[in-house]
Amino acid sequence: DQIALIGCPLDMGASLRGGRLGPEAVRLAGLEDRLKKIGYHVTDHGDVEVHNGYGHQRAQDNLNHLAMVKEANEHLYEKVDQVLDEGALPLVLGGDHSIAMGTIKASLNHYPDLGVLWFDAHGDINTDQTSPSGNIHGMPVAALMGYGASQLVDLGQRDHLLKKENLVYIGSRDLDQGERKIIRDLGIKVFTMHEVDALGAQEVIREALDYLTARTDHIHVSFDMDVLDPQVAPGTGTKVPGGMAYREGRLCLECVAQTGRLVSCEFVEINPILDHENKTAQTAVSLAGSLLGEWLI
Ligand code: ARG
Ligand code: MN
Ligand code: MN
Ligand code: MN
Repeated sequence: DQIALIGCPLDMGASLRGGRLGPEAVRLAGLEDRLKKIGYHVTDHGDVEVHNGYGHQRAQDNLNHLAMVKEANEHLYEKVDQVLDEGALPLVLGGDHSIAMGTIKASLNHYPDLGVLWFDAHGDINTDQTSPSGNIHGMPVAALMGYGASQLVDLGQRDHLLKKENLVYIGSRDLDQGERKIIRDLGIKVFTMHEVDALGAQEVIREALDYLTARTDHIHVSFDMDVLDPQVAPGTGTKVPGGMAYREGRLCLECVAQTGRLVSCEFVEINPILDHENKTAQTAVSLAGSLLGEWLI
């Protein structure tokens, strides 16, 4: 089994700089060796070409730093597509969550029925019309489903869209008003932190995977580190209290591994500047191990 590591050191989709250092922080935390130990053939493809700026600029059209975000995502799309052609499983390292547009578009190109498990405190389903910030890392899900700015929807120039019934959110606890309306109107499956607390992580992931596996054989995991509690993952830019414990995250990802249906994945929003002793990158390495079946005997 082949795993392709791909870094996308973009942080212009967010307000705070520093996510560009995420891929290297995860490499330094030992990702490659951890996966080799499981028995995979791991190839590190390095980082895709990204041009970041400095500081933060609010855009008139509510699409902050659009050109830089778009360009990085186009490069990522090409790389992930190529790696999938070669038969490897892409593991993408972020970078801010806008890079899910590039990763998932490429995966949809290979698996039009792709199911997505979106671990995140946030919905990231704003459009340029609903976003309170204009930050594109809050918009990838909408763009992947065909909503919002055409510059984002057209990314990769392919027509495969993510189906609304093929997405499941886990760990949501900070949804904007516009996002709540979109989620309600589209009838998207959501397990908020309320459900994780009330039902337990085991029941939530069981229901989520039952729902997805009834629809598709191909699963993508998009893991925003801020789904975890800020005490577990301090190195991320948009922290929200009351997140998942490390062991809850691990349990969920182990259950995904058990399905044998994972085809692509990404760990995003790792910002070492905000971290303590690279703790968040280390946690990402452990969770990547879980997702790739480290514990399976
Ligand atoms: N909902 C907020 C926004 O649209 C925050 C998004 C945070 N997204 C993230 N990938 N961390 O600006
Ligand atoms: Mn291809
Ligand atoms: Mn996110
Ligand atoms: Mn988030």
